[in-house]
Amino acid sequence: MKIGVSSDHGGINLKEKIKLHLQARGMEVTDFGTNSLDSVDYPDYGKILAEAVISKEVDYGIAICGTGIGISLAANKVKGIRCANVSDTFSARMAKMHNNCQMIALGERTVGPGLAMDIVDAFLNAEFEGGRHGMRVSKIMEIEKEEI
Ligand code: RB5
Repeated sequence: MKIGVSSDHGGINLKEKIKLHLQARGMEVTDFGTNSLDSVDYPDYGKILAEAVISKEVDYGIAICGTGIGISLAANKVKGIRCANVSDTFSARMAKMHNNCQMIALGERTVGPGLAMDIVDAFLNAEFEGGRHGMRVSKIMEIEKEEI
């Protein structure tokens, strides 16, 4: 499985831990930055990872900022992306099983590293259930096509 990770400066420490965790699980990890503690803008890192998911450069994306909020909002602006900002394992599993999310976002300042690894595992190990959930996800994606 190919996993992309990205963060702003507020999420870089957790990003590095998640990278090691995924590599230890034998996954191919691509890091889309940031690569230092210098202050950067989270929309840039949500967008670049979301685009890599849409282009199929990676299968799934894990995006991290201080809270997970800003970077998830940015990722969800890329057409076709479903990114859930999660802070518990149940939601992480449901984000895949019911919502077919290709990305999750985490907050380094809101979730401890141990829980964050469990959240990542819960998301990656889950399978989309399809059926009625597929129809509902399609309805979400239809909204994107509406001209307002
Ligand atoms: C950066 O200070 C912080 O605003 C950012 O990491 C994130 O929490 C935004 O949603």
